[in-house]
Amino acid sequence: MVTIALGAQWGDEGKGKIVDYLSAEADVVARYQGGANAGHTVVHDGRKFVLHLLPAGVLWPNTVNCIGAGVVVDPVALLTEVAQVEAAGISLAGRLFVSHQAHLIMPYHKLLDQLYEAQNGRTKIGTTGRGIGPAYVDKHARVGIRIVDLLDPPSLREKIRSNVEEKNRLLAKIYDTAELNVQAITDEYLAFDKRIDPYVKDVSVVLSEAIHSGKRVILEGAQGTLLDVDMGTYPFVTSSNPTAGGACTGLGIGPRHIDRVMGIIKAYTTRVGEGPFPTELGPEDAGTNLRERGDEYGATTGRPRRCGWFDGVVARFSARVNSVDVWAITKLDVLTGISPIKVCVAYAEETRTYRHFPSDSRILSHVKPVYEELQGWDEPLGDIQSFSDLPKAAKDYLEFIQEFTEVPVAMISVGPSRNQTITK
Ligand code: GDP
Ligand code: IMO
Ligand code: MG
Repeated sequence: MVTIALGAQWGDEGKGKIVDYLSAEADVVARYQGGANAGHTVVHDGRKFVLHLLPAGVLWPNTVNCIGAGVVVDPVALLTEVAQVEAAGISLAGRLFVSHQAHLIMPYHKLLDQLYEAQNGRTKIGTTGRGIGPAYVDKHARVGIRIVDLLDPPSLREKIRSNVEEKNRLLAKIYDTAELNVQAITDEYLAFDKRIDPYVKDVSVVLSEAIHSGKRVILEGAQGTLLDVDMGTYPFVTSSNPTAGGACTGLGIGPRHIDRVMGIIKAYTTRVGEGPFPTELGPEDAGTNLRERGDEYGATTGRPRRCGWFDGVVARFSARVNSVDVWAITKLDVLTGISPIKVCVAYAEETRTYRHFPSDSRILSHVKPVYEELQGWDEPLGDIQSFSDLPKAAKDYLEFIQEFTEVPVAMISVGPSRNQTITK
């Protein structure tokens, strides 16, 4: 049984929490794209972990965890995270595998990410500054450095030299910045060889064997559908494919092996960084106070998240481009005490109404959301264990989302820890 668990909005939907919950019954968990720009929070047995590169299955000692070819791996971030998890008494020996085909984030990727963002005349994306965009640029320009190169020092040395020389010309001529030192970077990366070597594997083969022996596999997306470089609110996106197709290309699995796509979606909407966000609440709607109620601050950068109402147009779009089979709706508890609750059902322009998501950021930045209002509830939801115990207004809210998106709600999250999950 292979399930893709992906974000259906602009990231931070609670993927870490849901994947940790699903992992109790999983054999293999695999990340397929993105890098340490992700911040997946898992509250596991009372301990909080923020995972950036490691799949959210790592906290279950019997799961095998994979990082696929589609991920861009920052070795410093990876080794730091491995050390943190192991310091918490969780051994990863023999159950963490990193694809030999995954590309490495290099120091110049992080530097360029920050310089591009600060440059006048270039669209500011509000990136996480983790070098993601520049690393995917090099990958697609076919000059990237991959994990497999760490195992071949002469080739690594040569590739670093040619990349650093090119980047140095760019840094000197355009950014007037101090040059990077080839030797220092080569030495630093050569030293990663021995430490990363035990984890390197052909992840496509690991997954193929798991699938053929009937194992339960979860493919964990990072970011979210609206941040997809092809389907998202371009150019305000990340540089990978968080959508369902990315799981196949990023892990080397054929689409016929995917049994189920679970869309993870917050009961309202948040976004970090720049870009259009039709249902965003401004200061005039401060009464909802979603940011404080939902503790909406970035898990990776600590930035305050922009908050707004649930966007049904976005949800329908995500259901379509990912062929979502079921929703896991998170943070329903955060809506307690807010009434009425609004749900966006269309976007209006002066002369037309959009019922389908217009992916063009220019259109999205000026459309006005058309809302339906639903009654709220006052009961706290954190201790509720079964669907039937939810307040009627909460059930009606879920029913509305289900009918509007034509996708069943299979799972509801009412708090950060896994025992605060209701299955329907
Ligand atoms: P991810 O990137 O999709 O894994 O999401 P993040 O970890 O960045 O952000 C989700 C935040 O909401 C984290 O702080 C979680 O601990 C928290 N969270 C997840 N599910 C729930 C929930 O159902 N209710 C509440 N109140 N918090 C939740
Ligand atoms: P998780 O996996 C929310 C956003 C950044 C920025 C844009 C591009 O925790 O849901 P990048 O550094 O990727 O080049 O930034 O994407 N972004 C995220 N927003 N959650 C994330 O990950 C994100 N990863 C990147 O804020 O707008
Ligand atoms: Mg996050």
